[in-house]
Amino acid sequence: MPETMTKVLVTGGAGYIGSHVVKLLGSRGYEVVTLDNLSTGFRQAVKYGRFYQADLLDKEAIREIIGKEQPDAVMHFAALSIVPDSVAKPLSYYRNNLLGTVNLLEVMLEFGVDKLIFSSSASVYGIVEDGFATEDSRLLPINPYGHTKAMMEQVMADLARVTAFKYIALRYFNVAGADPEGELGERKPAATHLVTLATRAAARKIPRLEVYGTDYPTPDGTCLRDYIHVSDLAEAHLAALAYLLAGGESDVFNVGYGRGYSVLEVVEKVKQVTGRDFSVLPTGRRPGDPPALVADVTKSRALLNFTLKYDNLETIVRTAWEWEKKLSVETM
Ligand SMILES: NC(=O)c1ccc[n+]([C@@H]2O[C@H](COP(=O)([O-])OP(=O)(O)OC[C@H]3O[C@@H](n4cnc5c(N)ncnc54)[C@H](O)[C@@H]3O)[C@@H](O)[C@H]2O)c1
Repeated sequence: MPETMTKVLVTGGAGYIGSHVVKLLGSRGYEVVTLDNLSTGFRQAVKYGRFYQADLLDKEAIREIIGKEQPDAVMHFAALSIVPDSVAKPLSYYRNNLLGTVNLLEVMLEFGVDKLIFSSSASVYGIVEDGFATEDSRLLPINPYGHTKAMMEQVMADLARVTAFKYIALRYFNVAGADPEGELGERKPAATHLVTLATRAAARKIPRLEVYGTDYPTPDGTCLRDYIHVSDLAEAHLAALAYLLAGGESDVFNVGYGRGYSVLEVVEKVKQVTGRDFSVLPTGRRPGDPPALVADVTKSRALLNFTLKYDNLETIVRTAWEWEKKLSVETM
């Protein structure tokens, strides 16, 4: 395997998902370099390799880093990613996500770096008829964040058509859980993801958990989502990189487990795993939330070679809970 000699530039490597991937790359012997502006990331989450504090909106800074490091491939996590924020502040999202990506691609092209793994999102699908999205489902995002991801996929597809550039877009479903070794997890105070918020409610860091919408056309009225453990998602990135390094063509893959849980099912699991009750407040629907969104994983299972280790809601919740308990100790 050429893996050990491969150098990967990770943008957004100080963030929740990026930091898990940096750790996995480093522990598998890849050379890893992180670029992050620390707008929502944390320097101490970068456990391997060199770190550059830089902004993708600063093209000269990207030029310096890529020129100096000459990576074999880029994994591009850096983005703003909070859906309600994107509804309130669309221009910030288009500027950061879209312009940042175009800058990065232009500099990669300048220096002949032609492989990229992209953090896309299930939000590119919007509302799918039966709740199951295949990679061929129509892309009809229903919020600015999802639009930025769909547009970036389009930019990369257009670029790949006329240059040597190759990319894999991984459309993540709902990423949750934490590093099973307890070193990493979601740190953002402004996190909006259900498992994080529910474990924070169990840890008494927030007073209650709000449930957005209980009148959806789903079995218990709350939204159905496909929760994937962040460490399995990290493995998917290494598999996608191996796929490109082995000569694979540009492509798009869903990354989820192919099974949906309702918000209330997750809440029950968090109460059971933590042994703590907490207050749950049903509120109105949130703009930009589809009723059900679950990955059809047929294609990624067939073509990406990696083993799922944490496909279990209890494991997802338990690792997130261990992390939350630790975070409170650290911050006390
Ligand atoms: N968390 C999820 O469930 C989920 C689902 C689908 C897709 N994604 C995507 O995965 C990626 C990582 O998400 P996350 O949950 O780890 O978010 P995160 O906010 O923890 O990580 C993003 C990182 O990018 C950095 N960053 C943002 N803009 C930057 C810029 N202009 N220049 C340099 N660095 C910048 C931030 O400081 C942060 O460290 C994002 O692209 C997100 O859209 C996340």
